[in-house]
Amino acid sequence: MSYTIDLSGRVALVTGASSGLGAQFAKTLAAAGAGVVLAGRRVERLKTLRAEIEGNGGDAHVVELDVTDHASIKSAVAHAETEMGTIDILVNNSGVGSTQRLTEVMPEDYDFVMNTNTKGAFFVAQEVGKRMIARAQGEAPGTFIGGRIVNIASMAGVRVLGQIGVYCMSKAAVIHMTRAMALEWGRYGINVNALCPGYIDTEINHHQWTTEKGQKLIATLPRKRIGQPQDLDVVLMMLCANESHFVNGAVIQADDGFAV
Ligand SMILES: NC(=O)c1ccc[n+]([C@@H]2O[C@H](COP(=O)([O-])OP(=O)(O)OC[C@H]3O[C@@H](n4cnc5c(N)ncnc54)[C@H](OP(=O)(O)O)[C@@H]3O)[C@@H](O)[C@H]2O)c1
Repeated sequence: MSYTIDLSGRVALVTGASSGLGAQFAKTLAAAGAGVVLAGRRVERLKTLRAEIEGNGGDAHVVELDVTDHASIKSAVAHAETEMGTIDILVNNSGVGSTQRLTEVMPEDYDFVMNTNTKGAFFVAQEVGKRMIARAQGEAPGTFIGGRIVNIASMAGVRVLGQIGVYCMSKAAVIHMTRAMALEWGRYGINVNALCPGYIDTEINHHQWTTEKGQKLIATLPRKRIGQPQDLDVVLMMLCANESHFVNGAVIQADDGFAV
């Protein structure tokens, strides 16, 4: 028996598609047939990714988005829907990290992490969610066969890690935000789930793995390895599939067993 997930006819918005996990998520969704809106601040990188996706026969569009700017969120989502059609899938992926002991955290460090990872993710999901709800209620044009919101949290939202306490707090909030949205929006056919990656080699942490300290950290991991962005594909696809309509409010760890 084989199992395929076909996202033809679906439109997906991926925030933070300019690098790392977001770029991989966008390529994977496009390969499954979805039209993909690539969002982030580094537009040139998004354009390069769009060319790659189109070169592979996919459909992609670029929108500029700063998730810390509410007006930017509203205009990016509106622009996305004008260009590609109503959004069926949101991969709420934009995020930043910051390393300090708790006693050293300055208000600007706190705001940097929280404004992007928690507040930004909330208002992106709210803007997309409101539009999905309006379609579900027949108050906005466009057919609606169910929405999928995948919030990219982290194993750090499940298990506290040293020197990135504020990051851990921001991702724990994303996990509870996911549950709150699942509770309120499930009745409209919108499924909201959280994906909690473990250590994956991307720009957010690449330098770390080249250092002695980073290598020592890898040696402490259950299978003494870090992941690659494509290691999350299978979970992403499951959460975005039309067939996953019974999965709502789930918090799924893909961390090689780190946070158990
Ligand atoms: N890599 C890991 O080990 C790991 C583990 C657990 C969770 N995560 C989470 O996975 C997500 C992706 O991280 P990554 O590893 O792929 O890191 P990354 O390569 O640094 O990507 C982060 C993305 O977030 C976007 N972003 C940051 N600030 C933004 C803003 N104000 N507005 C819009 N977009 C913004 C960036 O795009 P622009 O700069 O172009 O705006 C970038 O594309 C993050 O939420 C991260 O916390 C990563």
